[in-house]
Amino acid sequence: MFEHLSAQKPDAILQLVQMYRDDPRDQKVDLGVGVYKDATGNTPVMRAIKAAEQHLWQAETTKTYVGLAGDPAFSDAMIKLVLGDSIARDKVAAAATPGGTGAVRQAFELIQMSNPNARVFVSNPTWPNHLSILSYLGIETVLYRYFDDATRGVDFDGMIEDLKSTKPGDVVLLHGCCHNPTGANLTMPQWHEVIKTLQDTGATPMIDIAYQGFGDGLDEDAAATRAVAAVVPECLIAASCSKNFGIYRERTGIMMMVANGTDKGIAQGTLAFLNRQNFSFPPDHGARLVTMILNDDALRADWQAELEEVRLSMLSLREQLARELQQRAGSDRFGFLAQHRGMFSRLGTTPEMVKKMREDHGIYMVGDSRMNIAGLNAQTVPILADAIVQSGV
Ligand code: LMR
Repeated sequence: MFEHLSAQKPDAILQLVQMYRDDPRDQKVDLGVGVYKDATGNTPVMRAIKAAEQHLWQAETTKTYVGLAGDPAFSDAMIKLVLGDSIARDKVAAAATPGGTGAVRQAFELIQMSNPNARVFVSNPTWPNHLSILSYLGIETVLYRYFDDATRGVDFDGMIEDLKSTKPGDVVLLHGCCHNPTGANLTMPQWHEVIKTLQDTGATPMIDIAYQGFGDGLDEDAAATRAVAAVVPECLIAASCSKNFGIYRERTGIMMMVANGTDKGIAQGTLAFLNRQNFSFPPDHGARLVTMILNDDALRADWQAELEEVRLSMLSLREQLARELQQRAGSDRFGFLAQHRGMFSRLGTTPEMVKKMREDHGIYMVGDSRMNIAGLNAQTVPILADAIVQSGV
């Protein structure tokens, strides 16, 4: 029966990882997959993670199953980290998932289970895997305007106009902070207008927050998600610990559901059921480390300090890149790079130009011209700036 299988379209982001590895040139710059790299090009294990792992190795006495929704202490700690005091704990159902992608997948399945006719509105553009999973599940997807090619900022009027066409039973997927792939984000007043629009239409917001702490700070990056959770009757949140705890391969994420009109036991039980159907128990190791760090003052302070170093280094790389481009191009047209936030910025050029930069200069960025700013360092910024200007972007 397997002879009927056909080749799957490779994931554009992951394909780039392999192409970079296969490139024999010494001078090459990987701005593909969203992974933080320090000045030496390494993706370090964070200090607090190492310390927590050491402690866990000493203290852990069993590897038996935890629970279908993961350890409740992980849910408590993550709900507090993401939602702060915006909503009472008992109004949020939650389940640990394999990474943020696992949470996204579970959320989409929950949407389908709740309303087989749901349409999911996603930003144009969005993380390609959102589209891929939605299409795999056969969920109708509608694009709403988001990125303005001219300004490299948000086409806010277009976005609001498109969101006005949503209705109850629809879901609107929003990036909580650090929009992937563009780096262009809503201001808080704009978020309030989005919330008001969705309250008017009755559509349900779903927030994917994968980069908390990478934009303007831990609380600042969660402000929009908190504003949503505080006022809407229903919402879904998919949160990832991959980036802000640097535990990519541990697959640590959480899905949260606010469902005011739904019995609490049913809400929580449904999340556990969905986990059971898809993978049974969620991975525990990363979740346990995160819980230890968030509940220990010293570990938490060290984690926050290191995360802040990462955030500030990305900001300074953005500023350096904008400055070097300004010098080379003699114009401010790349100033948006310093305004964008998070790991990514969309340069706003054609796939042909992206290919040319790869072939001529060894610069690896995603075909839509998404650059992983966290893949740069002070030495590679000038190489990138040269490539952008010499290629005529
Ligand atoms: C990215 O967008 O590069 C990350 O979210 C990693 C991934 O899985 O695509």
